[in-house]
Amino acid sequence: MLLDVQDLHVAYGKAEVVHGLSMQVRAGEFVVVLGRNGAGKSTVMHAVSGLVPKRAGRVLFGGQDLSHATPRQTVQAGIVQVLEGHRVFQTLSVEDNLLIGTYARTPRGDRSKLEPIYAMFPELADRRQQMASRLSGGQQQILAVAQGVIGEPRLLILDEPSGGLAPIVIDRILDVASRLCRDGLAILLVEQLVEKALRHAHYGYLFETGRVAAEAFADELGQGDLLHRVFLGGHAQPTEETAP
Ligand SMILES: Nc1ncnc2c1ncn2[C@@H]1O[C@H](COP(=O)(O)OP(=O)(O)OP(=O)(O)O)[C@@H](O)[C@H]1O
Ligand SMILES: [Mg+2]
Repeated sequence: MLLDVQDLHVAYGKAEVVHGLSMQVRAGEFVVVLGRNGAGKSTVMHAVSGLVPKRAGRVLFGGQDLSHATPRQTVQAGIVQVLEGHRVFQTLSVEDNLLIGTYARTPRGDRSKLEPIYAMFPELADRRQQMASRLSGGQQQILAVAQGVIGEPRLLILDEPSGGLAPIVIDRILDVASRLCRDGLAILLVEQLVEKALRHAHYGYLFETGRVAAEAFADELGQGDLLHRVFLGGHAQPTEETAP
């Protein structure tokens, strides 16, 4: 077991929004977290990364207890999170954005890490000296992912990387995540594009109002009417056809 979240409770002020949630990610596994807006997906990811305090519960990572860890300590332990709606540094070049990603491990930046990243992301290699603001939205999201990968995490958390992007770009990002996973990196993907996400993942969790409503192997989670009920029962309809 790589990540083991046990009985997590998280509150903003007095309002508890995560109520005793447990989830696991094994080494080398691709896990997707599904759930409607406000289900608590980002909050749980932030709690894992140490970005929000936990009211109760434990976060174990590779046998290390990160329940009270700071964001810096979680990065050093090997957890890197690409935040929802993350924007890269607009006025820095592609290369400088990547070097910032290496600070997680080496305070002065490590140029030796650049070439393997350019090999993996040719669309960045062609634009290494360009200012990030000149990239398309999709290229910026790829850069955000690459900025996470260059920090050599053991677990990469991607919080809705598809947000606002064209389907072809989303496919590229999910393909990249799958390839990283095949190379041994564990992936924890938060996503509302249910069909696409389940196609890439091994295992999935469905969050509802701060709890795990269902968990199963990805191919099983897509069957039956549970997802349909959760996603289509109300107003949100984040299917591939209707999502932006
Ligand atoms: N900084 C905050 N302060 C107070 N309440 C918050 C804060 N962030 C989130 N919440 C509340 O916590 C609950 C869970 O929000 P969260 O952002 O974790 O959901 P989510 O599943 O990531 O949603 P989305 O799909 O829209 O990103 C929601 O009710 C939200 O309004
Ligand atoms: Mg969110």
